[in-house]
Amino acid sequence: MYPETILATLALITAILFYRTHNQTGLPRVGGKGPIGFILTALRSITSYEELLNEGLQNFGGKPFVLPTMTGQLVVVGPENLELVRTSDDSVINQPIALDELFQVPHTMNSRQMPLPYHTTVVRTDLTRATSSFIPEIVEETQLAMAEAFSPKSGEKSVIVPLFNTMLHFSARIVTRAMIGTTVCRNEDYLRESIRFAKTVVPYGQILRWFSKVFRPPIYFLLSSLFGGSKAPIKTLLPHLKRRLAEREEGIERNPRTICDFLIDHAPSEEIANPELLAMRVLNLNFGSIHSISRVGTFAIFHLATLSAFELDDIRKEIIDALESEGGFTKFSLSKMRKLDSTLREAARFHPPAFTGLPRSLVKPTTLADGTVIPAGHTIAFPLKHIHNNDPTVYPNPEKFEYFRFSKLREEDESNGKHQFTTVGKDLTLFGLGRHACPGRFFASMELKVLLSNLLLHYEVNLADGAKEVPQPTVLSSNMVPNRSARAVITPRPGQAGQKFGAL
Ligand code: HEM
Repeated sequence: MYPETILATLALITAILFYRTHNQTGLPRVGGKGPIGFILTALRSITSYEELLNEGLQNFGGKPFVLPTMTGQLVVVGPENLELVRTSDDSVINQPIALDELFQVPHTMNSRQMPLPYHTTVVRTDLTRATSSFIPEIVEETQLAMAEAFSPKSGEKSVIVPLFNTMLHFSARIVTRAMIGTTVCRNEDYLRESIRFAKTVVPYGQILRWFSKVFRPPIYFLLSSLFGGSKAPIKTLLPHLKRRLAEREEGIERNPRTICDFLIDHAPSEEIANPELLAMRVLNLNFGSIHSISRVGTFAIFHLATLSAFELDDIRKEIIDALESEGGFTKFSLSKMRKLDSTLREAARFHPPAFTGLPRSLVKPTTLADGTVIPAGHTIAFPLKHIHNNDPTVYPNPEKFEYFRFSKLREEDESNGKHQFTTVGKDLTLFGLGRHACPGRFFASMELKVLLSNLLLHYEVNLADGAKEVPQPTVLSSNMVPNRSARAVITPRPGQAGQKFGAL
């Protein structure tokens, strides 16, 4: 290479670095000064994100500040600004742009998702309305999946499973049953590929953002060729989607209808003519559901495994009473499982998905609650762990996991549903906030309650190696997921009360 070319390349890299690291907000910044300080702090954020965040929250007295991350500058703002997000209509504080950028959707999925989000409409309308009609299938698939994964070998009483991976498999299988039916949901290749897709979108999004826009398509090609992407699951889905489209042409309806049927109802003609585009919508919804459901479910089970026999019987009794009074799994019996609902909400409170979250892009200069103006083009985010875990005025004893925390509040405050797992608010942002709050939360709640109630009724769950404490989450950068290597000991409970509600 000629020296001029090397110099020009270095100059270009320096210009990009300066542009990416130059603090145009006028806000204080955590970590070292100048572009080199930025880069070193961003590198530190991979392993010490919480430390940097705490540094910013303490040093700048709760005022907004810039946190250097591997994906650029993040403006961290305090909970007093949640109201701005709750009431925003995307004209100034914008969610789709933030998510498109965060997950690099045009590369990891395609550029149609943000301008044409009909899959979101499907979840918000048809799927939410049909949630209770999916219950019998979800119960059947859950019980089958558990019977397969949790049957001890002959002569043994228990099985030991890596819990998070097992939950990923369950949630992929169960959501795919509702998505497209029994054939695909029991196709192990498809489940593996769709889980891989769901797992790779976030890291690919982060890596792609290191590069300028022109380099992103070849980098995505390289990453997906090496570690997998959308191609393999789409290939498996295609024949099934084409068959369903052909059946519908002939007027053949299926009962029960699937989420794919709802997608076909809403899809524009060009996506019907090109089922690969339709398959991408399926993957987008899989991405939204598989990882999140298994994450919350795994944390909840880890905590259930540390409860006393007395506490577990308390939850089990409520489940059995609910099933007996309603004649099995129905919308009404699930709604009577308040201690389970409370366990899920407490698991969500105790284990926020990330140290910072609820990202929003500012498309116009924005005045925060304290009068600070942030220029357009920046992304703001909130310190979730501080909101959920650190403030005793919001949650008394925030450092304690109390499975009955929210069911007790519901007993005291019967008049409204603000303490339910699916309730969205400024004190608990698992499902986001405002007009983009997760529309799939009612389906997710149904799936999780079916899963956990079946687990509690038919199995004993303990942590492997006699552990009594919930395994420490795996932390990378801002994200917190259940400990991947932690295992659970699952022992069937034959002949127990509640057996009649099982298909074991
Ligand atoms: C425990 C499970 C789940 C969690 C924790 C979760 C969490 C979230 C969060 C945080 C958002 C962004 C909200 C915001 O920015 O304000 C979101 C959006 C979304 N979720 Fe979920 N989700 C879950 C399950 C599901 C399921 C099962 C589906 C569909 C089957 C789904 C579909 C969606 C869709 C379509 C959006 C985009 C909404 C929009 O942009 O308007 N989610 N979810």
